[in-house]
Amino acid sequence: MEFFAVKGGRPLEGTVAVHGAKNSALPILAATLLARGESVLHNCPDLTDIQTALEILAALGCRVRREGRTVLVDTTDCTGTAVPDELMGRMRASVLFLGSLLARGGEAAASWPGGCALGARPIDLHIRAFQALGTEVLDREGRLLCRTRGLRGCRMALPFPSVGATENAMLAACGAAGVTIIHNAAREPEIQDLQGFLRSLGADVRGAGTGEIVIRGGVPLHPGEYTIMADRIVTATYLCAVAAAGGEGEFFGSDGAALLPVLDALEQTGCRIRREPDRVRIWQAGKAAGIGSVTTGPYPGFPTDAQPLLAAVLAGGRGETRITETIFDSRFRYVESLRTMGARIRVEGTTAWITGTPLRGADLEADDLRGGAALTIAALGAEGESRILSPFHIDRGYERLEKAFQALGGRIRRMNE
Ligand code: EPZ
Repeated sequence: MEFFAVKGGRPLEGTVAVHGAKNSALPILAATLLARGESVLHNCPDLTDIQTALEILAALGCRVRREGRTVLVDTTDCTGTAVPDELMGRMRASVLFLGSLLARGGEAAASWPGGCALGARPIDLHIRAFQALGTEVLDREGRLLCRTRGLRGCRMALPFPSVGATENAMLAACGAAGVTIIHNAAREPEIQDLQGFLRSLGADVRGAGTGEIVIRGGVPLHPGEYTIMADRIVTATYLCAVAAAGGEGEFFGSDGAALLPVLDALEQTGCRIRREPDRVRIWQAGKAAGIGSVTTGPYPGFPTDAQPLLAAVLAGGRGETRITETIFDSRFRYVESLRTMGARIRVEGTTAWITGTPLRGADLEADDLRGGAALTIAALGAEGESRILSPFHIDRGYERLEKAFQALGGRIRRMNE
């Protein structure tokens, strides 16, 4: 049985380079299907979710290979149109292959998506986008079947700025004759990264980062080369570890501009933050103060993925904070484990009230990606020893999280007993 063994209670200090963004790399890997030939992706993180995406590409007939942090995808012989069930069940983001398969060959099939257990995770907005572009979507014995006699550009408005639905609409629209305008599009930085890669293929896409994205599709695309941005949620994770344990940290890869609400919240807890062109630095001398209230929201609001991370900091601090989660309807599953460490947290629906108090080490169980990272942060800031079981959840989105924390002087080891 694998687990992280953590001895908390000691300030952190050190420098870490932040790896490439999982939530950029996943839609970009799906987008390689839009061009015939070999595309090259630099700074592609080595994560289990990325491995799953590479296995999907291979199952579709692509040749994929990794050279360090560079991944090469040759789609020349890709003839598949169905995402294998086992791979679809491993990761919800596998749904992103539907849009690029539709654009490439007019047909896509998959079982209904799996992935993290974050409450209801429908894909109705993805399906509506495909239908608006001229796709017939059928449910054949629990499998999703999409096909089209030719995608046509259209004007569509998302009722909610869904990240995945925006990305799938962009991918499909690249194969649609004419102009597609996506209103109320998600604005996340990862969508701007996807636009950057699509442009490297020769696609005419603009507006990512604003609520309105315009794609002039139907033109043949060529393979591209792109460098993926640093992962802003991994950066937030490292920053929150210092905020919880105290000390100082320097994290290379970005200037922190994609994380302003998180930096602001950490400064309110008493941290000192300094942004530089290629790094973010943080100092925390004492325990985190309560900050009143935080509400998650679509970008540029406070990112839902950093909600568990900040909660772990506040739980071990001092003072009161109310956290309201507006994106997912079940994203407080990690609270139960924090309570075993002595955390004082009340949850009612999508709101959590945190009263900071010293935490003590305990046996904990990760049961989703960011919740598992939050427990690791709490363990580093707690007095005593903790074990965090099922670190495979954490490996979905972090390249050896224990090694990053070891580089900060954290007493954490991956054990197998
Ligand atoms: C992306 O998920 C990220 N995943 C998530 O990161 C992130 O939490 C989320 O965006 C919000 O920022 C990837 O990019 C691979 P959404 P996604 O579509 O696309 C509802 C992580 O830890 N919804 O913006 O699934 C949905 O149920 C992961 O790296 C519909 O109702 O997020 C949810 O409540 C976790 N119908 C909300 O919208 C739909 O068709 C946000 O979903 C689609 C979504």
